[in-house]
Amino acid sequence: MDDRELMRLANEVRERAYAPYSGFKVGAALLCGDGAVFTGVNIENAAFGPSICAERTAFFKAISEGRRDFVKIAVTCDRAYCQPCGVCRQVMIEHAPELEVLMGSLDGSFKRTTIRELLPEAFAL
Ligand code: THU
Repeated sequence: MDDRELMRLANEVRERAYAPYSGFKVGAALLCGDGAVFTGVNIENAAFGPSICAERTAFFKAISEGRRDFVKIAVTCDRAYCQPCGVCRQVMIEHAPELEVLMGSLDGSFKRTTIRELLPEAFAL
């Protein structure tokens, strides 16, 4: 799975986001070491607090299916480029300290970075 294809998948699933409150749809595609991909979208709630971001949806789907080996995540939204929020960065570094992050836009273009660049001096126990 190359980077462009991972980003294309993130853009494709983004349409499934449930974001009636913010109107801001986000899609994510998480690549595992064996080539498997877990996608995620943001899912909002009328009570706001129970809402979840696309990146964490993808991570939690994968972890709950027994995956531990994460290589790269593509994230996309209606913005160039889609930067993961701080909460998602904390989840990413916990489960994938070497993760590559592709921050995308709707036209398929993206910026490449790493979770270590996005969250320097991260908290850990
Ligand atoms: N959102 C994500 O899905 N990922 C992020 O990294 C930032 C924010 C979602 C949460 C909420 O549903 C909407 O975007 C607006 O904040």
